[in-house]
Amino acid sequence: MADFPIGMAVSAGDENRSMLDIQAKQETIAHHFSQLTAGNIMKMRYLHPQENTYDWTEADELVSWAETNGLSIHGHTFIWHSDYQVPDFMKNYIGDANGFETLLDSHVTTIADHFRGKVDSWDVVNEALHQQGDGVGVGEGNCYRNSLFYQKLGKDYLANAFTAAKAADSGADLYYNDFSTEGGDDDKFACLLILVDDLLDNDIAIDGVGFQMHVQIDWPSTDDIAAAFQAIVDRGLKVKITELEVPVNNPWGAASFPQYTSFSEAAATRQKARYKAIVETYLTTVPANLRGGITVWGLWDGDSWLLNLSERAGSDDWPLLFTGDANGPYEPKPAFYGVAEALSEE
Ligand code: XIL
Repeated sequence: MADFPIGMAVSAGDENRSMLDIQAKQETIAHHFSQLTAGNIMKMRYLHPQENTYDWTEADELVSWAETNGLSIHGHTFIWHSDYQVPDFMKNYIGDANGFETLLDSHVTTIADHFRGKVDSWDVVNEALHQQGDGVGVGEGNCYRNSLFYQKLGKDYLANAFTAAKAADSGADLYYNDFSTEGGDDDKFACLLILVDDLLDNDIAIDGVGFQMHVQIDWPSTDDIAAAFQAIVDRGLKVKITELEVPVNNPWGAASFPQYTSFSEAAATRQKARYKAIVETYLTTVPANLRGGITVWGLWDGDSWLLNLSERAGSDDWPLLFTGDANGPYEPKPAFYGVAEALSEE
């Protein structure tokens, strides 16, 4: 329906409810979506568990399913600080900065090279910005997250990663990807522009910005989202919504939590309006040639990673586009029709 990718994040390999084990999932995804992101299995530790060991088996299986079924792949992600994903050999590295730089370059190069021609776009670096909201303020010195990579190499690891990825696969679009950058957190958004402008000023091959968009039903405003997209469009870069979902309960919201204890009609209607407004904002702000696509972070409500977040403990939620049984059949929710309506109004 859309002339840009409509993506789905999936579990695969040994993960629970791998899409490759569930026929109904494969059918629903192949029918409604045109791109896949691996929710986990293409992250650092999965693909590169030991310095001289790469493990392609699970990812190749997923990529080949996508190929057979006519879906493209968005790669996620070469570099991410999250502790459970940084391979031990990187954490325990004892050599100097040059050695670490070589090791990280070779990590990016090897993976980009392996998937050349099979992956359309990559989140080259994920979540390199400091978590804002703690009063550190904005400025080059305090925008970057103090990750292992930053500690070893400073912000140069970002430029290095984009350069290595472009050299290995000049055909893939390269994204910087982060959360809470879609407006609403002014400091983090300002830091995003510092990061992006630094890459552009140094002629680094970045093609676009991924906005994860783990948003709330009431935050950020669509005006804020539009302003964030616009700033990236103004720089001539692509905008991709990479990890969208809309839970109906906002633990940080003004109202009591949870706002909805069941998925009532009121909740469904509100969620539909929010999904629709987000897609409309994307379409009105981002011109066709800069649309990297829209990916939703999971198919069926029960699969959402949000259900395991401690901030949401004690409350249920229904953040995704499909309901039904764990193994299918899956039924589109009102939110699905909200997305479809927005896309068909184009
Ligand atoms: C999440 C996965 O969905 C979970 O299964 C896993 O336990 C943790 O990571 N931002 C990202 C994604 O960029 O990689 C994260 O995915 C969700 C937040």
